[in-house]
Amino acid sequence: MQTISVCSFKGGTAKTSISLNIGAALARFHQKRVLMIDFDAQANLTAGLGLDPDNHDSLAAVLQDNKTLQEVIVHTDHPQVDLIPADTWLERVEVTGVLSSDRYSHEKLKKVLAPLKYDIAIIDTPPSLCWLTESALIACNYALVCATPEFYSIKGLQRLSYFMHYISERHPFELLGVALSFWNARGRNNEEFLDVVNDTFPEKVLSTKIRRDIAVSEASIHGKPVFETRPKSRAAEDYLALTDELLKHMESQCLSLTPS
Ligand SMILES: Nc1ncnc2c1ncn2[C@@H]1O[C@H](COP(=O)(O)OP(=O)(O)OP(=O)(O)O)[C@@H](O)[C@H]1O
Ligand SMILES: [Mg+2]
Repeated sequence: MQTISVCSFKGGTAKTSISLNIGAALARFHQKRVLMIDFDAQANLTAGLGLDPDNHDSLAAVLQDNKTLQEVIVHTDHPQVDLIPADTWLERVEVTGVLSSDRYSHEKLKKVLAPLKYDIAIIDTPPSLCWLTESALIACNYALVCATPEFYSIKGLQRLSYFMHYISERHPFELLGVALSFWNARGRNNEEFLDVVNDTFPEKVLSTKIRRDIAVSEASIHGKPVFETRPKSRAAEDYLALTDELLKHMESQCLSLTPS
């Protein structure tokens, strides 16, 4: 199973929207069996897939040894897409119960997910360099960084880059790239933003940019990916292109790891 952790230090960089829509595209257009993991107590991915977080258990129950993984996985309305919902218990879960006395608690998610047999798992993380994000990066083999072309978003990239570097030294993963959302092709400062991102993550800016499109927030209100609510929208076009680009990176990575 390939596991992608979607992260950023700043809030509102479209982590959840990207997780939801690339997950849906992988299932719908690439016939992948996808597990979406909502690892943020805000539970936006859970709501974005049309489920009520108050009615479900999250990974917190599994990490605390109260439930099995199979007990918390739910089928969604979307064929080939399962979800592990989030709930508020995820917030500071590491300071309670069995995790509070476990020195290696941040490695537990990786162990818990290891037996799963999906093609791809996507972990949506909170906008913070906290225990949840650290656990998600340890558990993944690919990271996807989300950013917006704004000064504060770009500043957060540097902190995130140090954090990722520090984790990957002990738990290696590959950075798939930096996905920019809310992109305005005619933005006056685009070149400066791209230069800063390139300085922090050299050659990692993904060519697909996700343009601003009201279809994204509309779709999340309906608890669906854009491919269902507005299949002909700019957002649907951009998410599809982003998914293709990510798959190409993952495939070339697999080839480069194959011994000759
Ligand atoms: N391309 C886009 N065009 C217009 N609106 C968007 C786009 N991408 C995301 N949004 C909207 O922006 C808001 C923030 O997006 P989202 O929740 O995906 O960000 P996030 O990084 O997950 O936020 P958080 O850090 O709080 O978890 C949401 O209301 C979402 O619907
Ligand atoms: Mg989010």
